Amino acid sequence: MSTLLELDHLHLAYDTPRGLRTVVPDLSLQLERGHIGCLLGASGCGKSTVLRAIAGFEPVRHGHILLEGRLLSSPQQQVAPELRRVGMMFQDYALFPHMTVASNVGFGLRRASASERHKRVAELLELVGLGHVSDSYPHELSGGQQQRVALARALAPTPQLLLLDEPFSNLDSNTREHLAAEVRSILREAGQSAILVTHNQAEALALADRIGSLSGGSLQYWDSPEQFRQRIQPAVAVSAQAA
Ligand SMILES: Nc1ncnc2c1ncn2[C@@H]1O[C@H](COP(=O)(O)OP(=O)(O)OP(=O)(O)O)[C@@H](O)[C@H]1O
Ligand SMILES: [Mg+2]
Repeated sequence: MSTLLELDHLHLAYDTPRGLRTVVPDLSLQLERGHIGCLLGASGCGKSTVLRAIAGFEPVRHGHILLEGRLLSSPQQQVAPELRRVGMMFQDYALFPHMTVASNVGFGLRRASASERHKRVAELLELVGLGHVSDSYPHELSGGQQQRVALARALAPTPQLLLLDEPFSNLDSNTREHLAAEVRSILREAGQSAILVTHNQAEALALADRIGSLSGGSLQYWDSPEQFRQRIQPAVAVSAQAA
């Protein structure tokens, strides 16, 4: 295994009317190629800020971000988001309502030839199990189906890294669990490396190869699922006793 993503002593802060506000003081982590990493953490702890910095939407005040050994962000240098080969999928899916499923998925492939685009869109719709609704519009689909369209759209340009910011938070808990397992197998089949942000430990366990918790912008650990299970075991045992 080799390192795909490296965050090295990252310091992230927002410019506010009252001066710079530090959100992430000093964050370092590495993600192996083909792995899915998961960031847990309470609301406001800086999870989305970290993803936005990796995608190139927030500047880095200290430290740097490397992808495949390529410098993406440092205080001196900032590669434009569209040149990073980093895909991002947001909580609300942000599908284009006036476009069909197939056009949504093909959106990031506008520079490919029509036949290449057609082939890739068909391949992705098959991967996410939605070939039969390619001509439908987003509002005709269930929440889970829309989520899979958004995933196919994010995968279409073959990003080196996919960022998923709370992709299941709009769904009921049954659908969430089902989709987390499904998304994992889709990402695995596509060989896609990814970082997922969630509040949900079960979701992290269902998906991730590495699980970390952000608290006050600092990474508390960066565990394998087995280590993470042991870490949360006492809490599970206590809540089982209480029940
Ligand atoms: N544009 C901004 N300007 C100033 N402060 C911001 C900005 N965006 C976010 N923040 C602050 O930075 C902190 C981290 O925000 P962030 O959105 O990264 O949290 P999060 O962990 O993703 O939370 P949630 O789980 O609620 O999505 C919060 O205190 C937030 O208020
Ligand atoms: Mg967030």
